[in-house]
Amino acid sequence: MTENKQPTYNPGKGAGEPVGVAILGLGTVGSEVLRLMGEHSDAFAHRIGGPLELKGVAVSDLEKPRPGVDRGLLTDDAMSLINRDDVDIVVEVIGGIDYPRRLVLAALNAGKSVVTANKALVAAHADELAEAADAANVDLYFEAAVAAAIPVVGMLRRSLAGDQIQRISGIVNGTTNFILDAMESTGATYEDALAEATRLGYAEADPTADVEGHDAASKAAILASLGFHTRVKFDDVHCEGITKVTAEDIEAARNAGYVLKLLAICERLTDEAGVESVAARVHPTLVPVDHPLASVNESYNAIFVEAEAAGRLMFYGNGAGGAPTASAVLGDIVGAARNKVHGGRAPGENTYANLPIADFGDVTTRYHIDMEVEDRTGVLAELSAIFAAHNISLKTVRQEESGEDARLIVVTHSAREADLAATVEDLKKTSAVKAVDSVIRLI
Ligand code: NDP
Ligand code: HSE
Repeated sequence: MTENKQPTYNPGKGAGEPVGVAILGLGTVGSEVLRLMGEHSDAFAHRIGGPLELKGVAVSDLEKPRPGVDRGLLTDDAMSLINRDDVDIVVEVIGGIDYPRRLVLAALNAGKSVVTANKALVAAHADELAEAADAANVDLYFEAAVAAAIPVVGMLRRSLAGDQIQRISGIVNGTTNFILDAMESTGATYEDALAEATRLGYAEADPTADVEGHDAASKAAILASLGFHTRVKFDDVHCEGITKVTAEDIEAARNAGYVLKLLAICERLTDEAGVESVAARVHPTLVPVDHPLASVNESYNAIFVEAEAAGRLMFYGNGAGGAPTASAVLGDIVGAARNKVHGGRAPGENTYANLPIADFGDVTTRYHIDMEVEDRTGVLAELSAIFAAHNISLKTVRQEESGEDARLIVVTHSAREADLAATVEDLKKTSAVKAVDSVIRLI
């Protein structure tokens, strides 16, 4: 039997030196970061090479009850906390854009490393934040900003830095996945499912960001920027949320062998002349029931990465909630603290490829179109001609009885967004078409 050695701090520059941490925000995420940082303080000290020392926590409301929190740590003056000499790492878990931007820039400019879970901030101001971190030679970590506990940011920044990524796609918003899953599996209403997702701490402070797809679009911008070494901003992402999805859409999808999911899809496109560009989009998508993404339920997230040498990789895990997000935040705090103790910096972003952002009209995908049409001879031929005129080839056509009219469900082969939009316009103008009930993209 070998004798257990006493645990030691990692040897290295500054071994044993404390690392000062300030936490900005003590809500769903911040309170879990605080709890876990306290519970595992010994382990963190060993992993870092010196103890983490919590210097203060900024909140908005000092009077709010916060059981178990040392009130002496609380302040409502985040800027003063950041500027304390004994603070080395600033953790931003407030949310929003303008105010946290000021705080994060102040921290970076003062030479403090920053850990943030704020995808809206990173997707809107990544260049400015990265430049400030570079200028001060400090870390800017944001693992929790995409898919909470799934370590996809570190995987793109480090593990896949030697590969050429072609496509990143998947479910990156826990709230909308929770809502769609509840509507599908329990018949819950949209409103009840959203209220439950909010109660469980999955939704943003303003859940509009979740249900309108904005949160997923911010994450898509971050993933595309990292994967394609090109700055992709929130505004570059085509975004459609789930607010127009009805119980009927979900039932129709199920009957046709699909599950409806809100997907983020980031792709490297190559045109006929060989010119590359980047496209990022978020929209409700029909996923065949036997596809791995179809069984990603509740608030779970899953991300596929397709890379030239690695092939297809899939990452699955908790995509929202206090503790899963705190796991990613704490991983970043440990990383930034290690660098503080031992020297060095985390790999930053590099946007050297600087690929153009593709026009959304040039993106290609397959479509599922549900229409009410006149039930008479010649209608199919008439409608097929409209699709053909726009260069869209049909994969399947199914007709069902619908009172005096007929219901026509068309699945296309891959087609350009611009061609599909023009086709739908023409279909709507055709007297044989009573209504185009839904146009949903297929994975
Ligand atoms: P919450 O709304 O639960 O918490 C926000 C916290 O920020 C509260 O403690 C609030 O104070 C504090 N705050 C608000 N304004 C100020 C201010 N002016 N000065 C100091 N503190 C302030 O948000 P979450 O914890 O859910 O989210 C935080 C961040 O993490 C967001 O960027 C979010 O997008 C991101 N995130 C969240 C995930 C989740 O599942 N919830 C997952 C991944 C990322 P008070 O307590 O006094 O109200
Ligand atoms: N509101 C976000 C979601 C939190 O539901 O996915 C995690 O980023």
